[in-house]
Amino acid sequence: MTMFGIWMFGGKKRTGAAAGAVAAGDSVATGSGAAATSAIAGAAAGSTTAAGNGAADRPLIHFDSVVKVYDTGEVPFTALKGVDLRVEPGEFVGLIGKSGSGKTTLINMLTGIDHPTSGEIWVDGTPVHSLGENALAIWRGKTIGVVFQFFQLLPTLTVAENVMLPMDFCNVYKPEERVDVAMALLEQIEMADQADKLPAALSGGQQQRVAIARALANDPPIIAADEPTGNLDSKTADVVFSSFEELVARGKTIVMVTHDGDLAARVTRALHVADGEIIEDRRREGAEAP
Ligand SMILES: Nc1ncnc2c1ncn2[C@@H]1O[C@H](COP(=O)(O)OP(=O)(O)OP(=O)(O)O)[C@@H](O)[C@H]1O
Ligand SMILES: [Mg+2]
Repeated sequence: MTMFGIWMFGGKKRTGAAAGAVAAGDSVATGSGAAATSAIAGAAAGSTTAAGNGAADRPLIHFDSVVKVYDTGEVPFTALKGVDLRVEPGEFVGLIGKSGSGKTTLINMLTGIDHPTSGEIWVDGTPVHSLGENALAIWRGKTIGVVFQFFQLLPTLTVAENVMLPMDFCNVYKPEERVDVAMALLEQIEMADQADKLPAALSGGQQQRVAIARALANDPPIIAADEPTGNLDSKTADVVFSSFEELVARGKTIVMVTHDGDLAARVTRALHVADGEIIEDRRREGAEAP
């Protein structure tokens, strides 16, 4: 009860702190703070674009000839060379491949953090390639939970406040319900007793578990994770990976970039990315296509 009381006190300050943090583009651990904040929180305005034509009979995730050319530098660089991909609900997909092969670029296409140069990306019936920024942010906040290598928790918000951020932005739950939803998510990852702490007071593994809880805030069907264990020791990485396995067992679909060969062997489907292409698509033995 005491802890809850303290948390509520923190909660009172939350709205202002959250708004300030986002408005100020509060610094996060990597350079892409703005994109990360948007990815985590969604935006306050706009509405999700209707699926429109073409959604029928598509898999949960459908990349159709996706090309990404980066224009920075003297010579344009083609990071994705016409990627085709279909992912069904309940798959646990690992993206593996050398540094610079295009894994992050591919994940950023899936989450709408970045736009394709050509091709189509359909996710859960939505043409992600054709959404504007506001619609994208709202859509993402409800459809894809994003987990980053460096956690990207907002440092001035408590653990519980971080988990509530996507709820605040996407308005999925009534304000008075959000505390309970956040605490239930934190309980699932055994972090409820840390709810009042600031991220800096947590270990890397604990921060990443909080980031996973935040990714689940609006109960999205899909989790996208870019090297979520890349900054963790192998034991902690295993704990975090196990959380993902539990989510898949509960029906979530996960697309995860990993450098870790041991973990890559445990996903149900491994996609090998090289030079902007998927050169191998392998289902683990015994893992049926859902
Ligand atoms: N914003 C950008 N501007 C120009 N080139 C970029 C940009 N982002 C990525 N690239 C280039 O696109 C290629 C693919 O990059 P990407 O980040 O997708 O690789 P990755 O497989 O995630 O690598 P890593 O394992 O090191 O994270 C690389 O050659 C990279 O230099
Ligand atoms: Mg990368």
